[in-house]
Amino acid sequence: MADIRTLITAEAIDQKLAEIGEAVSADYRGKDLIVVGVLKGAFMVMADLARHIDIPVEFDFMAVSSYGASTQSSGVVRILKDLDQEIAGRHVLIVEDIIDSGLTLNYLMKSLRVRKPASLEVASLLLKSGVQRAELTIKYPGFTIGPEFVVGYGLDYAGKYRNLPFVGVLEGD
Ligand code: IMP
Ligand code: MG
Repeated sequence: MADIRTLITAEAIDQKLAEIGEAVSADYRGKDLIVVGVLKGAFMVMADLARHIDIPVEFDFMAVSSYGASTQSSGVVRILKDLDQEIAGRHVLIVEDIIDSGLTLNYLMKSLRVRKPASLEVASLLLKSGVQRAELTIKYPGFTIGPEFVVGYGLDYAGKYRNLPFVGVLEGD
């Protein structure tokens, strides 16, 4: 296994998710909220963020895949698993692990917006600084990081490292 340099500790992640969960609970109190996790990367953020939300809420998942296998996003996205639930008239919060080019999220938001949700917002644990090519407003941004490729806490390199409880950078190979 390659060396991994810790970038964001498990404790820092939990503290950030507690803050986001508190804000989400305050902002959506009394509203019909459905939190949508984007698989696979967001599975850990969803599980831990959910524990910090203390209002009635439903959860659903989507799975998307960029065409091709490069580490660069093409912006062409395939929906592998759609939502189980209708979102018309409901408040939707998309939960992402990381936003890099923003192209995946941009496509996803376009395809959800046509279903007429009451609102559509985004929470993302990580944002890569300065590389978002699509016009995006992230209501609940977590940590802004540099352009390096990160793994752990749901994020993978070639399918591995999602199980790490922290976010780190791969060193060497
Ligand atoms: P975007 O369309 O460029 O914003 O790409 C977003 C998706 O690419 C994320 O949901 C991740 O699945 C993946 N991704 C982008 N940057 C990283 C990274 O540093 N590590 C692991 N996956 C990443
Ligand atoms: Mg993702």
